[in-house]
Amino acid sequence: MAGPLERTAYALGQTARAGVFWGQYWLSGRLTTPVKAPRPIDKPMPGTRRILDGLRELFAQDWRNIEAGYYRLPHDLAASPLQAVVRAGAYFSDLAKVEARRHAGSNSEVFEAPHKDRYPRYFLQNFHYQTDGYLSRHSAELYDHQVEVLFGGGADAMRRQALVPLHHFLKERRVRATRLLDLGCGTGRLLSFVKDNYPRLGVTALDLSPYYLERARALLRPWRDVAFVQAPAEETGLPDAGFDVVTAVFLFHELPGKVRRAVAAEAGRLLKPGGLFILVDSLQLGDVPEYDGLIEYFPVAFHEPYYAAYAKSDLEALFADAGLRTEDVTLAYFSRVMTLRKPD
Ligand SMILES: C[S@@+](CC[C@H](N)C(=O)[O-])C[C@H]1O[C@@H](n2cnc3c(N)ncnc32)[C@H](O)[C@@H]1O
Repeated sequence: MAGPLERTAYALGQTARAGVFWGQYWLSGRLTTPVKAPRPIDKPMPGTRRILDGLRELFAQDWRNIEAGYYRLPHDLAASPLQAVVRAGAYFSDLAKVEARRHAGSNSEVFEAPHKDRYPRYFLQNFHYQTDGYLSRHSAELYDHQVEVLFGGGADAMRRQALVPLHHFLKERRVRATRLLDLGCGTGRLLSFVKDNYPRLGVTALDLSPYYLERARALLRPWRDVAFVQAPAEETGLPDAGFDVVTAVFLFHELPGKVRRAVAAEAGRLLKPGGLFILVDSLQLGDVPEYDGLIEYFPVAFHEPYYAAYAKSDLEALFADAGLRTEDVTLAYFSRVMTLRKPD
């Protein structure tokens, strides 16, 4: 159980970390100009103070979870200052390219040979207007930093909310005999927290991007029993009922409706009866009405072609069609955490 020493370490580490990312968020805002929405947004837009309050509440929740013993202090809360400077340098030197793409509406640079024949069309886009989309080592190196800047340092804390239902699920099981699959694992951030807490849990990291998987492989090197699969989440090629837990973090909002349905069905197929599906993804419209304007604006500023449809979709119905029953929905800062069960 975490005590006063851990509390101090968390408070100091998280405040310094959030200060660094929030500062870069602020500076990015000064160095770039907002893109005009195609039509006026008539929904509420939260101010900076409201967003900062949300971030503070996320960290308070993160700490409460640590204090309750749901998970440990984050393994990399105290990152090396030198690394932080190098990453910030790389982020800011790429920012001008992102800005140019954003204002030109240029989002299909990766729709070309040799990628064209290897990946589904919807994947071949510069999501977030990022350089190379998901298809280069350079993109994979920048991604975590970009996402943390976007969320003012709250991205990892949102991902860790998945560890709460995981804790309750594993309490009743032999960890060594349990298998978890992370769909669209990206650079492996969630899995690094999972393995740090459950080193004996067998995990599989799946992503369509070989570059992001390569990065995940490097991050997860300290741990054993980690498998890597390069495949589409809608057609993984993995065996029926092979997993006790399936997770997906910030994946569904990037998928066309048809693919969202296919990935939900695939998760249902891959889970054992009684297995758990944990989704961490963006808030939807109406989850926090004060944020609705931001949810409407987000896909304009950060090329997210399927986000608007995701934001108003009925996720419970989507998963029910895949045989997954919703057990719990909680909100954390800009994320919605859903816990679902495949009935026995
Ligand atoms: C927004 S990122 C989220 C990554 C990670 N889960 C995280 O927490 O940051 C989306 C990830 O999903 C991957 N992806 C997108 N579509 C996919 C698909 N159909 N199948 C597998 N991976 C996909 C991308 O390559 C990228 O790594």
